[in-house]
Amino acid sequence: MSPQPAVPPAPPGTRVSLAVNGAPHTVTVDNRTSLLDLLREHLGLTGSKKGCDAGACGTCTVLVDGRRVNSCLVLAVRLTGAEVTTVEGLADGERLHPLQQAFIDQEAFGCGFCTPGQLMSGVACVQEGHAGSPREIREWMTGNLCRCGCYGGIVRAIEQAAEAGART
Ligand code: FES
Ligand code: FES
Repeated sequence: MSPQPAVPPAPPGTRVSLAVNGAPHTVTVDNRTSLLDLLREHLGLTGSKKGCDAGACGTCTVLVDGRRVNSCLVLAVRLTGAEVTTVEGLADGERLHPLQQAFIDQEAFGCGFCTPGQLMSGVACVQEGHAGSPREIREWMTGNLCRCGCYGGIVRAIEQAAEAGART
């Protein structure tokens, strides 16, 4: 009888306790798990999208302790105690966040794939005080790509939200 192939050992795991959109979660993840995969694969929050998985497109943008990050580049095991906000946490029940409403008003999306990342980055852009002019908004939104080319509408939407004093 030929020997059975060796079963590779399970990768090491680590418990992570963090808050996502105000709700506490404790999960055990493979040490290589990104925040994006934690959100999508472990918590079922699929609003954050995986475009490049390499920090180049911004579709995975979320807020960690109020600062925007590319969640595909952040290791989940580093986030114990963190407060994470995703696109699912923007609306207040049925009431859209002012930037979500502005995206509708300004027709700031085509296919919608980049939109969750644009929204999270746009919210941060306003909160950081980087939405003073269309030029400034363009500068501070350069990490978020839109293959549908909706940049004009996105800038107008962020201007609208900034005028309304939008915050998370
Ligand atoms: Fe994270 Fe593209 S999926 S930057
Ligand atoms: Fe299609 Fe931005 S709306 S990629």
